[in-house]
Amino acid sequence: MSILPAKPEDSQAIADIFNQYLGIATMVLEPRSAADYQTIIEAENCAIFVTKDGAEVVSGFAYVTPYSDRGGYALAGEITVFITANAKGKRYGSYLYDELLPVADSLGYRHLTAKIWANNGNSIRFHESFGFRLVGTQVGIGFVGRKRIDTVIMERVW
Ligand SMILES: CC(C)(COP(=O)(O)OP(=O)(O)OC[C@H]1O[C@@H](n2cnc3c(N)ncnc32)[C@H](O)[C@@H]1OP(=O)(O)O)[C@@H](O)C(=O)NCCC(=O)NCCS
Repeated sequence: MSILPAKPEDSQAIADIFNQYLGIATMVLEPRSAADYQTIIEAENCAIFVTKDGAEVVSGFAYVTPYSDRGGYALAGEITVFITANAKGKRYGSYLYDELLPVADSLGYRHLTAKIWANNGNSIRFHESFGFRLVGTQVGIGFVGRKRIDTVIMERVW
């Protein structure tokens, strides 16, 4: 298994992994397309990595994008990670962050935000293991499948 910068031809595989989690671990409810991820792959202020096995199959991805287009947030990024359902718990997420966090630093980021469903204890623990701290809970901010959803904000500052 290798961690590699995503290429445009990985975009569909990335979208397919993300679309497994619509309304489960993301507030996004409409499937994303390859084009959505191609934009991130090509943006200068973003970085995106994928896991690939020997057959070049992508089983996870992680990326950093700007937190906001407002100038005062120039040091702030937002981070995202998704591993395909049958590859969770194999440290792929950790390997992705091991690569991504130093690159986020080299892009000039000094603050990262992760937005996580409050019921996603695995992701909260995962982010804690990479030095993210819990900022707080947004109670009932989401509305998915006729249910109100709480999210937590986590941050890593250096
Ligand atoms: C959350 C996620 C990114 C973690 O990646 P992963 O490759 O499964 O996690 P790892 O195997 O690298 O685990 C690293 C650490 O995270 C925590 N963790 C991850 N999965 C866990 C689990 N099932 N139970 C408890 N802790 C867990 C632990 O602290 C673990 O360290 P440890 O093994 O030394 O205890 C991945 O499981 C995933 O994509 N899940 C579904 C989608 C999702 O929730 N994405 C995040 C949206 S915010």
